[in-house]
Amino acid sequence: MSEARQTVTEDQVFEKIEVKPIAGAMGAEIGGVDLSQPLDDATFAEIHRAWLDNNVVFFRDQDLTPQQYLRFAKLWGGIHLHPYMKGMEEFPEIFEIIKKEDAIQNFGNRWHTDQMFCPEPAKATILYAKETPKAGGDTMFANLYLAYESLSDGMKEMLSTMRTYNMGDKRYGGRSRSERYSDGSSMGDKVAPPNKDINSDHPLVRTHPETGRKALYIGSHTASFLGLSDEESAPLLKYLMNHARRPEFTCRFNWKPGSIALWDNRCCQHYAINDYHGQRRRMHRITIQGDKPF
Ligand code: SIN
Repeated sequence: MSEARQTVTEDQVFEKIEVKPIAGAMGAEIGGVDLSQPLDDATFAEIHRAWLDNNVVFFRDQDLTPQQYLRFAKLWGGIHLHPYMKGMEEFPEIFEIIKKEDAIQNFGNRWHTDQMFCPEPAKATILYAKETPKAGGDTMFANLYLAYESLSDGMKEMLSTMRTYNMGDKRYGGRSRSERYSDGSSMGDKVAPPNKDINSDHPLVRTHPETGRKALYIGSHTASFLGLSDEESAPLLKYLMNHARRPEFTCRFNWKPGSIALWDNRCCQHYAINDYHGQRRRMHRITIQGDKPF
């Protein structure tokens, strides 16, 4: 079982790849690997270990065809299709995230973990930068193991049996995704809602199936706690969301065309920063199937 790192001072020994932490809490850049080529088992095993240790890993200067990108993605599991958003016409397993020069709103501008509203949320997300602004458009990540581990024993005990209720649509002021994305965003034509709302409940404290560590499994899809009213849920939800994104638990990644991030939705949140108005940013995202949180 892999022990995720607590600080940058812990040794990370690898033979096939270079692994360079980018912050104290989480995140590492991986060098010495060309993802356009098939990976041998030993190299994949090291990337997998670095990923479990660091919650999110980054690759630079990659040049992949959609077929090569999909081959890399499928090493991590089956493809999870977003139930509310359409993939690309030629490659439906790849979802294009775009903010054009005239858009106001970007996609993913809330702290969240991907598709937490599904009964089996996405395990991992891979994001590949195609076009990036001159400056800005970074993505932030927060380590949900640290969020859990830093709580007091009393709080851990209180949260231990609680469950979250997570909504796929109409979470924010009752507005549907179609309404939200047709207004000031470049994503309106990608919304394809299923014919029923998808909402799921999950344990608030989740055990990672590969590392065995506990994480505070919460994100912006979380609307309330099971058994509590919305009013009763709100203050605790606010406290835990603020706690989970304390700067000490985060890292921040600056994209260039050819950068790839691979994050573990079971133990981290992310947030796409909307600070590049008038510029264009275009990314290709693939999400990987996960299992039922426990
Ligand atoms: C997302 O939330 O998946 C998008 C992240 C980003 O574009 O940086």
